[in-house]
Amino acid sequence: ARIEKGGYKHYMAKEIAQQPTVVGNVLNAYLSGDQINMDLGGINFANVDRLSIVACGTAYYAGLVAKYWFEQHARLPVDIDVASEFRYREAPFAPKTLGVFVSQSGETADTLAALRYSAGKVDKVVSLVNVPESSIARESDVAVEIHAGVEVSVASTKAFTCQLTSFAVMALKAAHDRGHLDDAGLAQRLSELRQLPGLMSHALTIDAATKAIASKLAEARDVLFLGRGQMFPLALEGALKLKEISYIHAEGYASGELKHGPIALVDKATPTVVMAPHDGLFDKTVSNMQEVMARGGRVVLVSDARAAEEAGSGVWQTLAMPEAPELIQPILYAVPAQLLAYHTAIAKGTDVDQPRNLAKSVTVE
Ligand code: G6P
Repeated sequence: ARIEKGGYKHYMAKEIAQQPTVVGNVLNAYLSGDQINMDLGGINFANVDRLSIVACGTAYYAGLVAKYWFEQHARLPVDIDVASEFRYREAPFAPKTLGVFVSQSGETADTLAALRYSAGKVDKVVSLVNVPESSIARESDVAVEIHAGVEVSVASTKAFTCQLTSFAVMALKAAHDRGHLDDAGLAQRLSELRQLPGLMSHALTIDAATKAIASKLAEARDVLFLGRGQMFPLALEGALKLKEISYIHAEGYASGELKHGPIALVDKATPTVVMAPHDGLFDKTVSNMQEVMARGGRVVLVSDARAAEEAGSGVWQTLAMPEAPELIQPILYAVPAQLLAYHTAIAKGTDVDQPRNLAKSVTVE
């Protein structure tokens, strides 16, 4: 059946708006009470020594957030690669490694080839897919469905937040299996995850504020995105979304890496979007922001009200997000990343759902 826009101007707008619901669907599928109910074909992470995550594009950035989660919460080392590099760099496979392949479509040629290359070399092939009958799902030992529903817009939105939510559940299972989270700790983390649909609805109310900022971003030739820790991949995703659909050159950087290159680009005409919820690293991010402002750079601070206060004066624009537990912040901050790109593209008059030169599913190498 044809998927309708349902009153929205673009599929992308509709898919952004669906996120509280679809993320809730992931939680309904994989949580039951204070327990995780995700069928991983009997995998016990206590017997796993390493994950090798492979994906392309937005799915790769979901994997990069997951690396932070698995390493921090489950003390499980993670290698991560873009699929087009993975096969050719001839990396050694360590024993007790799980290969994890992330793909919305389940048909991306490079990701599928990386999966086939890994089969037989890893203990098990696990995939996170949106299409359960896809090639990647069929060729995996365990296929975890991300429950985003059909995604039409070329620029991925709800698939990203559903990949992240599925990964968060998996990382908590790993933390529990490996003895780094007891039953009470797990119950606490799951209650944080359950705040997602509500907080996501709240986050969507920044839509009008985002539109106002986007009208200014639309005038820029280059935009920088910064983030630290688990927000670093969100800076990459914000930059990717913006370049994909508005054709403005954008780069995502780890905040601390700013001084090793991109700061040379900072001037009045180059806005810097800083993705910085109030977390343990906030003070360091503020000092990176000040380095930008000291060079005449304009900062768009995406943060919660408390942090915006602490950041002091000099910030050009602020987007106020709801306060949220640290675990779910990267999922929530996908919303401003998406909305900034969406409204900037509209201000520029580009084709939001069908950007030039891009395909929804890239089935050639
Ligand atoms: C294309 C799409 C992106 C997507 C990437 C990976 O480049 O335009 O939105 O992130 O492929 O796709 P997959 O289906 O493997 O997640």
